[in-house]
Amino acid sequence: MKRISEGFVSFFAPVQKVVSAGMAVFYNPVMSLNRDLSVILLKSIGKRKLVVADPLAGTGVRSLRFLKELPGMIEELRANDGNPRFPALFRKQLKLNKIPSKNVVVARREASSFLLDGPGFDYVDVDPFGSPNPFLDAACKKLSRDGIIAVTATDTGALAGSFPDACHRKYWAEPLRNELMHEVGIRILIRKVQLIASQYDRALVPIFVHATQHYDRVYLHCEKSRSYVKALLDKHGYLLYCERCMDRAVSNANVGMCSCGEPFKAAGPMWLGPLWNHALVKKMLVTSKGDAEKLLSVIHQESHIPIVGFFDIHKICSLLKVPVPKTAEVIAALKRKGHDVGLTHFSPTGIRTDAPLEEVKSIIARLK
Ligand SMILES: C[S@@+](CC[C@H](N)C(=O)[O-])C[C@H]1O[C@@H](n2cnc3c(N)ncnc32)[C@H](O)[C@@H]1O
Ligand SMILES: [Zn+2]
Repeated sequence: MKRISEGFVSFFAPVQKVVSAGMAVFYNPVMSLNRDLSVILLKSIGKRKLVVADPLAGTGVRSLRFLKELPGMIEELRANDGNPRFPALFRKQLKLNKIPSKNVVVARREASSFLLDGPGFDYVDVDPFGSPNPFLDAACKKLSRDGIIAVTATDTGALAGSFPDACHRKYWAEPLRNELMHEVGIRILIRKVQLIASQYDRALVPIFVHATQHYDRVYLHCEKSRSYVKALLDKHGYLLYCERCMDRAVSNANVGMCSCGEPFKAAGPMWLGPLWNHALVKKMLVTSKGDAEKLLSVIHQESHIPIVGFFDIHKICSLLKVPVPKTAEVIAALKRKGHDVGLTHFSPTGIRTDAPLEEVKSIIARLK
């Protein structure tokens, strides 16, 4: 174990070249951006008296950061990990950071039973190895009205379509293995979490998502209302994609014909509504720096364009057999035509816009 720092805290963690589930205590420095964003999001929401659950806490670094970096916002924090070393280690980490332990509960339980035995939570962070599935039921059940559930999924092989059978089994949907795979994966994950929550009359609305490196992360806000659950489930459907001309459509049906004459390929069912609360993203951007700021400045551009999917400029150029223009020029030309347009964090060569494919193609062809 070495003493390391992240955010405003110091803590003990194993430092290994290869991060794996077999580590004595799990810590992945690459996930610091994931933790930074959770701190920034809660800070930007600015609610006080939060009752927080960190059921899969690892070294407890996220909990430590919440306690230290969200002063006055946390009424009670419950940190848990099934690892037998966790309670002693976490108490040591609290002392190291001079964090009073009076409003902190430390546990070493199976995560779902830890959640189920707890109070209602204003924030639950589900940050597992692989799929969050085993913990969704308990996390959704214990989410308070107006609460937020944050979910990480590292099984992107299933969600992004490398293993479609795994996606069918675990997420009850058809993935899409092309430039849209990460957005489609996140939308499939959102629907799965919404379906689990809907059983308990909880409507979960996405407020922030990001797909980064090897994982997907979604934050959903809870409304406890049966009628709202129905409205939310009505926004589940399919993304239809034409592999010949790259056109796409959203639909309630998983079949359809593209105007070019090619049958569409269908992905989903998935969440077809907005992925971000734009006002929240704006606030988050103001308080961020470093990698979080870089990511948020791109998400800020796409978060007010509630369109499913984006256009990959390089793929369009290779289809049209034209050289790749500057992205900034494509964006400026679309803006001149009165369209909403911005970069997308899902792809370095993508743009999100309300313009139809034909318009994007004709602009790219003219810019060549
Ligand atoms: C990806 S790590 C968590 C990382 C941590 N949230 C962070 O930000 O550093 C997943 C953790 O879940 C714990 N875990 C896995 N299955 C569990 C279960 N069923 N109950 C309790 N803990 C579990 C593991 O011991 C591991 O520490
Ligand atoms: Zn087509």
